[in-house]
Amino acid sequence: MIEIRTPRLLLRRWHDDDLAPMADINADPRVMRWIDDGSVRDLDDTAEAIERWEEEWDEEGFGLFAVELLASGELAGCTGLSVPEFLPQVLPAVAISWRLGPQFWGQGYASEAAHATLEFALQDRGLDRVISISQEGDQASENIVRKLGMELERETAHPVHGRPLRVHTIDLTEFAA
Ligand SMILES: CC(C)(COP(=O)(O)OP(=O)(O)OC[C@H]1O[C@@H](n2cnc3c(N)ncnc32)[C@H](O)[C@@H]1OP(=O)(O)O)[C@@H](O)C(=O)NCCC(=O)NCCS
Repeated sequence: MIEIRTPRLLLRRWHDDDLAPMADINADPRVMRWIDDGSVRDLDDTAEAIERWEEEWDEEGFGLFAVELLASGELAGCTGLSVPEFLPQVLPAVAISWRLGPQFWGQGYASEAAHATLEFALQDRGLDRVISISQEGDQASENIVRKLGMELERETAHPVHGRPLRVHTIDLTEFAA
């Protein structure tokens, strides 16, 4: 069972009772503003997404972690790794992403989870490179990417809805140094 503990967080696989809090997060327009076309997701969408993330864990050996606060046991959101199939021009690649409920923003949790995820990518999965795909204007993601030491690789557009995208990359052998 893959689990990572950071000073304040538990990164783990998904439990049945994560569905309701994750669905609340996905139903919030503030959260979804810079994700895909910005539309919110309902309970069924979230159930499907969690199922897909769990399948990815089984098939790829990595996926999206449920991010739990150690102090309270609350689900704060998700952070993890996925293959960005929606953007064929960057493949082969593994992308890191993050999504927390607004009540958990501004406390450094996303950066803490992202840092641990990059360590997992390198040390546990043996990956030497991870990318991040964020939408132009998503300043919160841009801040995390900068703090992680990722570098801008290309600017492009989403193949379906055309929103401008920024692709950052990190050589994990340098991250470890
Ligand atoms: C993207 C997202 C996860 C960023 O969350 P966040 O809370 O802003 O990110 P961080 O974890 O880096 O925390 C930011 C701030 O917390 C503050 N902070 C407070 N306590 C802290 C602590 N103990 N340690 C570190 N930072 C702390 C810092 O000021 C930090 O900002 P700074 O680095 O500019 O100084 C969040 O905005 C989100 O979920 N957005 C919606 C989903 C989304 O768009 N995801 C991107 C698409 S993949």
